[in-house]
Amino acid sequence: MILRTLRLKNYKNYKSCSLNFNPRFNFLCGDNGNGKTNLLEAISMLSYTKSFLQNSEPDCVKYNEDDFEIAGEFCNASGTKHTVHFSFEKSSLKKEITFNNDVIHRFSSFFGTFPLVVLSPADICLTAGSPHDRRRNFDLLISQVSKIYFDDLKSLTKIVKQKNSLLKDNLAGRKYSDESIYDLLTLWNDKLSEISSRIILKRIEFINEFQEYVKSSFIKIAGDSIKPVIEYKCDIQADVLDKDITAGRLTDIYRQALKEKTQMEMIRGLSLVGPQRDNYVFSMIKNGDRFDVRSFASQGEHKAFIVALKISEYHYLRDKLYSSSTGEPLILCDDIFSELDSNRTEKIAGMLADLNQVFVTTTDPGYINIISKYIDEKDISSFRILNGIAEKNP
Ligand SMILES: Nc1ncnc2c1ncn2[C@@H]1O[C@H](COP(=O)(O)OP(=O)(O)OP(=O)(O)O)[C@@H](O)[C@H]1O
Ligand SMILES: [Mg+2]
Repeated sequence: MILRTLRLKNYKNYKSCSLNFNPRFNFLCGDNGNGKTNLLEAISMLSYTKSFLQNSEPDCVKYNEDDFEIAGEFCNASGTKHTVHFSFEKSSLKKEITFNNDVIHRFSSFFGTFPLVVLSPADICLTAGSPHDRRRNFDLLISQVSKIYFDDLKSLTKIVKQKNSLLKDNLAGRKYSDESIYDLLTLWNDKLSEISSRIILKRIEFINEFQEYVKSSFIKIAGDSIKPVIEYKCDIQADVLDKDITAGRLTDIYRQALKEKTQMEMIRGLSLVGPQRDNYVFSMIKNGDRFDVRSFASQGEHKAFIVALKISEYHYLRDKLYSSSTGEPLILCDDIFSELDSNRTEKIAGMLADLNQVFVTTTDPGYINIISKYIDEKDISSFRILNGIAEKNP
């Protein structure tokens, strides 16, 4: 997909804004606090139906206004135009998204229509943050290629919430007999086992494939002296998962694991088993030693890992989704070059040049000269962002 135009009304510090983008490279330049990230965030709302920064809609309405609108016109690989319109009203909390003028009711059917990868300073949470941050990141990625996965995640969240509230109520008031609480928990656990096994199988399949993408992106950025490794950890022991396990078998194993923890869950008043607790562990092999990225990597290594991860996400989405109706993903790079040495900046600039449509924010317009080494001038547009006003440079 290509984002041809973007229109904003009362979105954060933009009163109104209308932009035509380059189908290849778009530089958004401006000093701190002028609205570069806000523009990327608005684009992410059209693709993900929510902010990549997890800001709530009320926070995105311009101060002292009641509603915002974002409208984008996209163009797919065969040249067909598509429009997405996102509106939100603060007083009624009404959020409406239309795709080609039809209101979207089921987000799972829309997700992945405009595949998107975002690379931002907030991604430091991927290598330095909690399991929740990594799960959320990969859930967003897998959900763009699998509607079943998207729906399963939604069901999982709902059931875990209901089960937790049952466990909490029971702990607080003991309003159920031992027999009835066991029966109710068994009902939830049966459902959980089925959904969890599908989610886990998808995560295993994903990580096996994705691993190779990360290795090859990382080599391009940092050479082959360091190897990145991503491991998937869940409640089920790795040696059980290694074999060609079926969904049916995994469901049984899960049911058993849930049963074994039931007593403890009742004492703690909380679900203690399930994919909502999974983790992805990032490590690197350097000079024969394997070390955990979270605890031991240098700042530059964190950044290289994250950039490799995000460029891999781009290629993964492209390979999984490419068709004339979706085309290639968009990539939004917020402040990507800061903290990188000149050697890595050049390498990443070269890698970005191979991608489809790229949006890069920067406070330093000098980076355009580096990008120009890899891309024709006609394929680069730059925009000046000043206090909520964006203008294309001639
Ligand atoms: N709801 C809102 N209404 C009006 N302005 C807002 C709203 N939310 C955030 N802003 C303002 O938008 C401004 C621009 O933010 P943004 O993060 O886009 O800047 P930036 O150009 O990316 O800066 P930096 O280079 O520091 O990353 C901030 O000063 C912020 O206070
Ligand atoms: Mg910013």
